[in-house]
Order: sequence, then C-alpha cells, then structure tokens
Amino acid sequence: MNASGNPILAVRDLEKTFGSLVAARDINVSVPAEQTVGVIGANGAGKTTFINMITGHLTPSKGSIQFEDKDITGLPSREITRLGISRSFQVAQVFPSLTVFDNMCIAAAIARAHGDLFGTVTTALRSPAAIAEAQATVELFQITRYRDTPANTLPQGVRKLLDIGMAVVAWPRLLLLDEPTSGISIEEKFDLMNVVMSALKSRKITVLFVEHDMEIVARFADRVLAFYDGTIIADGTPHEALDDPRVQELISGVRVKPGAGAAHA
Ligand SMILES: Nc1ncnc2c1ncn2[C@@H]1O[C@H](COP(=O)(O)OP(=O)(O)OP(=O)(O)O)[C@@H](O)[C@H]1O
Ligand SMILES: [Mg+2]
Repeated sequence: MNASGNPILAVRDLEKTFGSLVAARDINVSVPAEQTVGVIGANGAGKTTFINMITGHLTPSKGSIQFEDKDITGLPSREITRLGISRSFQVAQVFPSLTVFDNMCIAAAIARAHGDLFGTVTTALRSPAAIAEAQATVELFQITRYRDTPANTLPQGVRKLLDIGMAVVAWPRLLLLDEPTSGISIEEKFDLMNVVMSALKSRKITVLFVEHDMEIVARFADRVLAFYDGTIIADGTPHEALDDPRVQELISGVRVKPGAGAAHA
C-alpha cells in the first residue's frame, strides 16, 4: 500500500470484447505500491489485452481502472504515460540504427517533453537534464559498455535491457512488462531479470510482468495472477498460485496426481 493506504492500481469488473470474442472478463485486481506481480497464462489467455487496457492501448468494453487517485479508464495512452505508467512490448521497441545512448536520450527527451512530440522534444534532446537522466539509466541497467553501440547489433539481452530502460527513464511509478524474457536463452534469463528487478526496486517501481517461465515467476514475483480464457483463475503468492491444481492443469502443464504434493520447481 502507498502512504494513503490505497492501492496504486485498482481494476474493477474489467471486460474487453472483440466482436463476439471475449478477450477479458470479470477482472478485479488491487495492487499495492511497490509490489511485483507476475502475470501468467497460456497463449491467447488475455494477458496482453489486460496490459493494453491499463496503458490505454485498448479501451475497455466495461469496467474501470483507477491509478493512484485518478480514474484512467479509456484515457489515451500518451496521457496515461504522463500520469506515471510506462510499459515494454512483447517485441523490443528501440530505434535500430541509433546507439544505446542516443536511444536513451530520445526516451528521456520524450519523457521530459510530456508528450509534446513536435514542440519541446528537440529542445529537450539537447538539455543537460535529459543527457544526465539517460546516462544514469544506462548505468542503472548495466549497459554502459554498449553506450555507443547501434541497437541493431546488440545481443538480444542487452536490447531488452535498453528497451526496459527506455520505459524507466520516464520515472514511472507503475511499469508493465510484456514478456521481458521472451527470446532470451534459459541461461541468460535469470541474469537479465536480476538486473531489471534490482533497477526497478531501487526506483520503488510497482511492476506487472507477463512471463511464461514458471521458474522466473517463482523467483521474482511477490504475487501471481493466473489468466485463463480472459479471466483470473488464481491470485496469490507464487507458491499458492503455482500450486493451484487448475493452474497446473491449464497453464503450467503439470497435472497434479490425486494425493501427490506440489510438482513445480
Ligand atoms: N485487436 C484484437 N482484435 C481481435 N482479437 C484480439 C485482438 N487482440 C487480442 N485478440 C484476441 O484476444 C485473445 C487474447 O489475446 P492476448 O493477446 O491478450 O493473449 P495473451 O495472453 O497475451 O497471449 P500470448 O501469450 O500469446 O501473448 C486472443 O484470442 C486474441 O486472438
Ligand atoms: Mg501477449
């Protein structure tokens, strides 16, 4: 909980339909400040739809989303970013031909221009404050040695760190990460998440991250939301959620045998 005791994010009766397809339904979640929430679910379960509604990339068909003391339901994404919510996408969104540092400077300038892309961004790009912010974030994400490397030649893990860093340079209070470890080898995933999570903790950022690897979820989440067919079927500590028989059968693919103990790693 934050200082006033209210959740930083409160989602009520959220629903999203695409024609006859119900992509999200009956979603009710309250997230206290600084919690790290893992979002799990099979392909097509509605995880990205849920995130897209919070960030304003999709307008909910029903329900409400409260961020801190504001109702943000249906606001444009630029306005939601300005209020303090940032995100990363399933595929890294960086400028491929620009260096790590130039990418970070652009993200810092856009954040400082508060969405006024055509007016103040060009001024902000040259501002010492944006450059200092970009440098601090490059250091925070431990990619200083790639500072002058073009993004299109970066190792995949470094590109992910840059992408997430570009979302963090705006100093969001809530960050939504859609599959931060997708495309990363099993050996590199833990190192990547260690860097990301310690950076986010040092800035006291509340995090929702979508993840398919249950070992990563168990290691990094304080709480797990399990999605199935557009709705949340389990919400609890990683232990509670990952041990839930429906989660094991429908999501993590491990069916619990009657009388058997928890089977997950
Ligand atoms: N813009 C859209 N138009 C129509 N249907 C959509 C749209 N976006 C998502 N869907 C559908 O909504 C459902 C939920 O999709 P969503 O992308 O939220 O799943 P997901 O849990 O993120 O899956 P994945 O793990 O594959 O990323 C799917 O059936 C998908 O095909
Ligand atoms: Mg998705």
